[in-house]
Amino acid sequence: MERTLIIIKPDGVQRALVGNVISRFEQRGLRIAGMKLIQISRELAEEHYAEHKGKGFFEPTVKFITSSPVVVMCLEGANAVVAARQTMGATRPPEAAPGTIRADLGLDVSRNIVHGSDKPETAEREIKLYFKPEELISYTRAGDVWLKE
Ligand code: RTP
Ligand code: MG
Repeated sequence: MERTLIIIKPDGVQRALVGNVISRFEQRGLRIAGMKLIQISRELAEEHYAEHKGKGFFEPTVKFITSSPVVVMCLEGANAVVAARQTMGATRPPEAAPGTIRADLGLDVSRNIVHGSDKPETAEREIKLYFKPEELISYTRAGDVWLKE
């Protein structure tokens, strides 16, 4: 069982795509371990995007992610990190495969609707940025036994 951190970015919330995006992850089989609507502070955004500090898109990306509320989720399941990234599609919507969130719902890299952790170690770091341990719930759903041998 693996966990990943997903953010439905300001464009997803403002365009009323929250339900659509959550549905895709849910239908994939991923289980919601934690979820909330928050306004990201500049400090948190800079920490979240620390690996991109110094790049040209850092400042606009920080401004954008702090511009309006976002939905943050911790999702869990087998291979959750890779599965979620696949459901999201490539970073740039015109390069994303049809059927993915970024291809189906977006047009440009600056407004690509979702964030997802890129590897398990990143997921661990990012989940801690957004959730206290007591905000994450371990449980099983009735359908979980039908997802895997
Ligand atoms: P994310 O972190 O949001 O899940 O996206 P990612 O791993 O697919 O892409 P990453 O390289 O980590 O970039 C983080 C976010 O920065 C914005 N970006 N803008 N204008 C640009 O060329 C550019 N490149 C990246 C996007 O919002 C991207 O999701
Ligand atoms: Mg990334």
